[in-house]
Amino acid sequence: MAVLPILITGEPVLHARATDVTDFGEPLIRLVADMRETMEAAPGVGLAAPQVGVPLRVFVWEWTDDEGTESSGVAVNPELFITPVPAGEPDEEGESEGCLSVPGERFPLRRAATALLRARDLDGQPFEITAHGWLARIFQHEYDHLDGTLYVDRIGTEWAKPLAKTLRKKGWGKPGNSWLAGVDDLDA
Ligand code: NI
Repeated sequence: MAVLPILITGEPVLHARATDVTDFGEPLIRLVADMRETMEAAPGVGLAAPQVGVPLRVFVWEWTDDEGTESSGVAVNPELFITPVPAGEPDEEGESEGCLSVPGERFPLRRAATALLRARDLDGQPFEITAHGWLARIFQHEYDHLDGTLYVDRIGTEWAKPLAKTLRKKGWGKPGNSWLAGVDDLDA
């Protein structure tokens, strides 16, 4: 297993639709093991294959809620069904999201409260999970990655300027940037 470099916004693979997995063989198993190790090292609560430069529809997640209930897994070729996104302004305290591909930044964003994930596991077996709250948010965030959408593509116009300033200052938003957990001093 290996910790993989995490690509930063501007890298084309992050902004393109990923393709379905058709081969559930050894390379997929190795990829997912490396993605898990990378997510843990970052640390993060989710990681999608395009973030490590692989344009496949796969994400991993690991989340423990306030009650101590842990959820972790891998979703291959997922579908996601969500309840309507609530109207109104997001709460900066409670609804701010981050992304390992925009490391160190957080912006508020409304998400659906409930999400139904249907996907396949590493054996190609279908499963489904109904998620609420932050886990539902994680699923929406990671699923978006597979369609080439970052959460910063969804934030309100009032956050466009601070985001643009960050990208300019850090030289992001163009190809060629990545970071390595445990080596580069960045947190997300
Ligand atoms: Ni992300």
